[in-house]
Amino acid sequence: MSETTGSFSIGDHKVDMPVKTGSIGPSVVDIGKLYAQTGMFTFDPGFTSTASCESQITYIDGDEGVLLYRGYPIEQLAEHGDYLESCYLLLYGELPTPTQKVDFEHRITRHTMVHEQMARFFQGFRRDAHPMAVMVASVGALSAFYHDSTDISDTGQRMVASMRLIAKMPTLAAMAYKYNIGQPFVYPKNSLDYASNFLHMCYAVPCEEYKVNPIFARALDRIFILHADHEQNASTSTVRLAGSSGANPFACIAAGVACLWGPAHGGANEAALKMLEEIGRAENIPKYIARAKDKNDPFRLMGFGHRVYKNYDPRAKIMQRTCHEVLNELGKKDDPLLEVAKELEKIALSDEYFVEKKLYPNIDFYSGITLKAMGFPTSMFTVLFAVARTAGWIAQWKEMIEDPGQKIGRPRQLYTGAPLRDYIAPDKR
Ligand code: SDX
Repeated sequence: MSETTGSFSIGDHKVDMPVKTGSIGPSVVDIGKLYAQTGMFTFDPGFTSTASCESQITYIDGDEGVLLYRGYPIEQLAEHGDYLESCYLLLYGELPTPTQKVDFEHRITRHTMVHEQMARFFQGFRRDAHPMAVMVASVGALSAFYHDSTDISDTGQRMVASMRLIAKMPTLAAMAYKYNIGQPFVYPKNSLDYASNFLHMCYAVPCEEYKVNPIFARALDRIFILHADHEQNASTSTVRLAGSSGANPFACIAAGVACLWGPAHGGANEAALKMLEEIGRAENIPKYIARAKDKNDPFRLMGFGHRVYKNYDPRAKIMQRTCHEVLNELGKKDDPLLEVAKELEKIALSDEYFVEKKLYPNIDFYSGITLKAMGFPTSMFTVLFAVARTAGWIAQWKEMIEDPGQKIGRPRQLYTGAPLRDYIAPDKR
C-alpha cells in the first residue's frame, strides 16, 4: 500500500488527509482525523462511497465484472477447484498444497457432527418454521455448546471455531430441512466430500441407501464456491461489526445469517424464483418490467441489479451454465421457469431503463432455478447461500480480529431530531 497527502477545503476548513492506494482498485481518503480537525462527520448512508476496512481477501471490479478470491479469478476457481480449496484460500491466502488440502479436508470432516443435544434444541421449533429462522437460532446456539472455542484472544480457539463453523453449517442446514419436512436427521458420513455429504444429509432416509448424483454434487460444490465470499457486502459487514465488539464467532456468524436473510441480499434467490413462478409465462413479462420501472410500485426484478456490479455479475454466467448442466441431467432442458428467466433477461437487458441504470442479472437470478431442480424447496435457497458464505464470513472475521489496528465499529450520525427541551407535565401536554 502507498500513501500520499490530499488537501481538501471544506467550508472554512482546509484539511490535509492521507490518501492510501492499495494493490488494485480505488484509492481511499483516510478521514479518521476529519472530526478532530473540522468538527464535521462524513455522511454516506448505505456506504456507497465508503471503505469500511483494509482487506486482502476478495476484490471486485464492478465495471468490468471481475471477482477475485485472493487474486484468483472466480471463473478459474469454479472450473478447476472445489469449495474446501476455496475455503482454505480465503482463510489462509494461498491455494493449499496437496498435503495441506488433505489435512484441511480431514480437519473439516471431523467437525461435521453437532452436539447430540442440539437435536433436542430443534424440537422447540414449529415444523413449519422458516429454515432461515432455525439457522439464525441454531448457529447462535453453537456458542452454548462449544464454550471451548469462544475465546477470540486465543489463536487455537479461533482456528477450532472456524473449522467447526465451516464443518457444521451443512449439518445444521440439513437438520433444518429434515425438521421442516418431518423426516429424521441424517448424520454426516466421513467417507463423502463436502457437497455430497450435504446432499446425503438432506435426501437420505433410513429406509434405503441414498446414492449421491455426482453431477448434482459437482454443481452444488460449484454453487458453494460462487457464494463463498464477496468483499464487504451487507452480511459480511454485519459479521465484522459484531466481531469488532469481541463477540464470539458463533454469535457473529449468526448475525451474518440474520442479515443475509433479507430479500435485498441473500433472500433474493428465494424471491427471484417466486417472481419467476408468479410471472409464469413469457407473455406476462412486459407487465412485470413495467412494474419494476414504476417508481410508485415497490416491485423490483429480483435477481437483478447490484450495488457494485454495473456489468454482468461473473457468478451469474457460471450459475447459468450450472443451471443448464443440472436441467440437462434431469432431462428438463426446456424447464418453463428457465424459459421465462432467459426471456426476462433478454427483454430487461435491451430495455433502456435497465441499460441506463446498469441493472444486470446477479448471482441470485439463476441459482433458484438450479436449486429447485435439485429438489430444494425455495425456503432452503438462502440457507444454502449461508452455508457457502460462512467461509467468507469467517475469513473476514479472522482478518479483522488479527488486525492490530482494529477497534469497535461505532458510526456517528447527522442528527435532525428535536433540540434540547424541558419535560412537560402530563396535564400540560
Ligand atoms: C446479493 O453486496 C453484495 O455483494 C451482495 C451479494 C453477495 O454476494 O453478497 O452480491 C449478494 O445480495 C445480490 C443482490 C441480490 N438482490 C436482488 O437481486 C434484489 C433486487 N435488487 C435490488 O434490490 C438492488 O439492485 C440492490 C439492493 C441489489 C442494489 O441496490 P442499490 O445499490 O442500493 O441500488 P439502488 O436501490 O439505489 O438502485 C439504483 C436504481 C434505483 O432507481 P433510481 O432511484 O435511481 O431511479 O436502480 C433501480 C432503483 O430503483 N433498481 C432496480 C432494481 N435494482 C435497482 N429497479 C428495478 N429492479 C431492480 N432489481
